[in-house]
This record gives sequence, structure tokens and C-alpha cells, in this order.
Amino acid sequence: MGLDRAASIDDLRLRAKKRIPRFAFDLVDGGAENERNLRRNCEAFEEVELSPRYMVDVSEINTQTILFDQTFAAPFGMAPIGMLNAFWPDADLTLARLCKAQNIPYVASSAASTTLEDLAEAAEDNGWFQLYVSSNADVTEGLIGRAEVAGYTKLVVTADVPAAGKRDRDIRNQLSVPFRFTPEVVAQCMLNPRWALTSLRHGTPNVANYADLLQSATSYADVQKTLITPSFTWDDLKRLRARWKGKLLVKGILHPKDAEICADLGCDGIVVSNHGGRQVAFGPPTIKALPAIVDAVAGRMLLILDSGIRRGADILRAKALGADFSFAGRAFAFGVGAGGQPGAERAFEILQLELIRALGQLGAPNFEDVGPCHLSRVQ
Ligand SMILES: Cc1cc2nc3c(=O)[nH]c(=O)nc-3n(C[C@H](O)[C@H](O)[C@H](O)COP(=O)(O)O)c2cc1C
Repeated sequence: MGLDRAASIDDLRLRAKKRIPRFAFDLVDGGAENERNLRRNCEAFEEVELSPRYMVDVSEINTQTILFDQTFAAPFGMAPIGMLNAFWPDADLTLARLCKAQNIPYVASSAASTTLEDLAEAAEDNGWFQLYVSSNADVTEGLIGRAEVAGYTKLVVTADVPAAGKRDRDIRNQLSVPFRFTPEVVAQCMLNPRWALTSLRHGTPNVANYADLLQSATSYADVQKTLITPSFTWDDLKRLRARWKGKLLVKGILHPKDAEICADLGCDGIVVSNHGGRQVAFGPPTIKALPAIVDAVAGRMLLILDSGIRRGADILRAKALGADFSFAGRAFAFGVGAGGQPGAERAFEILQLELIRALGQLGAPNFEDVGPCHLSRVQ
């Protein structure tokens, strides 16, 4: 099937699944434990109904959105994804360049398989930097300092990893850090020769920003200690707020009280996110968590939503419920996995064209005007 016959993000996912060894596909596609949240994120979007309004001139549709005085072409951007080059070689740079070319935000993960400096160069002023707070304060400060020098002006601090998520698929696939070529992995690679050859050319992906630090790591526990910490608290966030002179957002907020504290501490925004269902299986889908957060903090800071965006209409649903902007993670990853750069472009095109069509059908020519008035009152 050619990329032009991929009608949806789900089609891109299926195409990626055919081209990528199972262990690498599962790394991105999978979720925490029995994957309840992964499923619920998408199902919950479908439960939000919007009521189309007719006899409105929709001959010109405007999806432009202004965030922090910068105008973007669409109301969605790329969420941070770690180790994405294991999914498809060069995925990080491909997506950073795509976001610049299409004029949408690109959030570089601190666990990316490409350095934050190279990603800053590719995404230019559309690049934001996502920070995992490390158990080692020097590591955290090192990343912040490098992000400043590289020219990032937006820092997205991820809050929802007090412990690493338990992902059953990765355990079944015996995924290990440092990476080991088990006989099963080799067999899966042989079944996907294009992926294997391209990966061979690019070399084994690593967590590039920490490459030196992780050289001596012998266990996953070592890696975890470097990347994240179980003792990240509001006091640390207060210090980060004082330290970072640019815009600061907190990612992974699900509780209205936490949203209020972020606003009280002077954060510029939050990302209502459950990490795409990768951290816990018991929490709420983000679209369900959103209304209480909107009630608590709307108007005090930027509200971004992610987790489960697979359709352009999902971005409208989030806006109708009070999110200013959305991020998509896997939607872009599936695109690049389905077909490299053209696949990434197709993922953007699918979301954007679905969004434009849905705005026309909703009778809302300006994305900015979508709001609670568009929610269906039909019970
Ligand atoms: C493979 C993978 C790796 C991720 N790595 C990170 C990361 O390094 N930092 C982070 O804050 N979030 C990370 N996330 C979460 C995403 O930023 C985002 O919240 C999630 O993908 C949104 O859900 P969606 O994939 O359904 O769009 C990751 C998600 C996936 C699927």
C-alpha cells in the first residue's frame, strides 16, 4: 500500500508494524501493564460529541494558533519521544525538520536518540526542550545549561515519572538497557531487512544527551537513576522556575490541584498528559481529566493536552473542552515508521486535513473560536 493510500493515522500504524521488528514496534506502540489507559485515551475522545452548526461561511478555514507570541500553522505539535531512532533510523531529525517545515512546535526529549544541540539546529525556533529531572542535580543542571546555550526558550518539565512505567510488552520482548542482541531480536531483524540495513548504517541508537554518563551503566537501574528521580517535589519545581528564564511548562498534570500549584508557582503552561498511557494503567484518560483542570486554572496559563490524539477531530474536541493546543506523539512516530520522511509528512497532512475538514463541518472557520458552545447538548 502506497503512503497516499494511508487514509488515517491507524493506517500508518499498520504500515509501520509491517516494516519494523516487533521489539522496536512494541517499544513505541505499547502502554503500561494491560494497556487500559492506552485504549481508554482513544476511546474517551470518541465519547466527546460536537454539534455541527450550519449556514456559516466556511470557505476560508484558519488553523493558525499563537503561543507565547509565536504564530504556528496548526494547533498541534510533536510531543517529546525518547529513543525514537530505535523505531526508525533518524526519526528524531526527520520529525524536528518536519515540524520546522510545517511550522508547528517540536518538543525535543531529553531521552532522545539525537543530541539536544542537533535537534535545536533542525527545529530552529520551533524547538522546545523537555527535561527529565535526574537523581543527580549536576545532570539536571547540565541539561538546562546546554538547552540554554543551544537556544531553547521553552522548557517542558516532565512530572509524571516518579517511577518508570511497567510495560509488559517490553518485558516479554526482554528489552534491556544496555541493548542486547538476543537470538530472538536477530531473528526479528532478519524478517525486516530494510529496517535492519538502515539501522546498521546509522548504528545502535543510544540516549544521546547522556551518552558519556551512561557508558558505565551496567543495569537498567543505573540508567533510571541518571534519567529520572523518585524525589522530584514542588520545591524542586520552584527552584527550576527561578533558574529558567524562558517559558516553563509542566507535562503530565492530571489533577486540578496540581494544575493550581503550577499556576501559583508561576509556570507558563501545563501539558495535561498521561504519557500516552505508558506510565500507569489506572488513571483517567486526559480528555476526561481536562474539564476539572479547566475549571481550576483556565486563563491563568497555557493549557496543552496530549495522549490519544489520532484524528484531527480529537484536536477540536480538546479545544471545545478548554485546551488551547494539543500534542501528538505516536501519530508522528507511526508516520515516520510507515515511510521515513514522506511518512512523517503524511502523518502531518492526515491530521491537518482532517482538522480543516472537521472545522468546516463544525461551522467554525477559525480554530480559535471553537469552544464549549460546540459541545453536543444531546444526552
Ligand atoms: C515511545 C515513547 C517515548 C516517550 N518518551 C517521552 C519522553 O522522553 N519524555 C516525555 O516527557 N514524554 C515521553 N513520551 C510521552 C509523549 O511525550 C506523549 O505524552 C505521548 O506520546 C502522547 O500520547 P500519544 O502517543 O497517544 O499521542 C513518550 C511516548 C512514547 C510513545
